[in-house]
Amino acid sequence: MEDNLNSYPKELQVLVKHPQYFGRMNAPDGAAVLKGLCGDEMEFYLDIEDRIIQDVKFFTNGCEATIACGEIAARLAKGRSIDSALGISPKQVKDILKALPAEHSHCPILAISTLYRAIADYLLKV
Ligand code: FES
Repeated sequence: MEDNLNSYPKELQVLVKHPQYFGRMNAPDGAAVLKGLCGDEMEFYLDIEDRIIQDVKFFTNGCEATIACGEIAARLAKGRSIDSALGISPKQVKDILKALPAEHSHCPILAISTLYRAIADYLLKV
């Protein structure tokens, strides 16, 4: 989905231009790739030790809203136990990103679903 970043509120623009968790990870403990109905892909990579998410990376080919949602999902997940991370909801991401345009309300779902899948990938290996 195409968007003009300049039409986004300032705090969302900053988040998109300088995401802390954007990227991929070598040898993650859990990883997942999901494609949304819009065609955007989201990837999540987790470094987990003693069931605590030590580090998180996300990658997407999607638009600014998708990047913002991946970034917030990663921020919420880092440092949490995997049980607690499975309690993070798309609504939490949406509530933090108050400025998320209504037509992008599916983006938090893609981000959190991919996070859940990455946790499931880890759980299937241990
Ligand atoms: Fe589809 Fe964001 S536009 S996930």
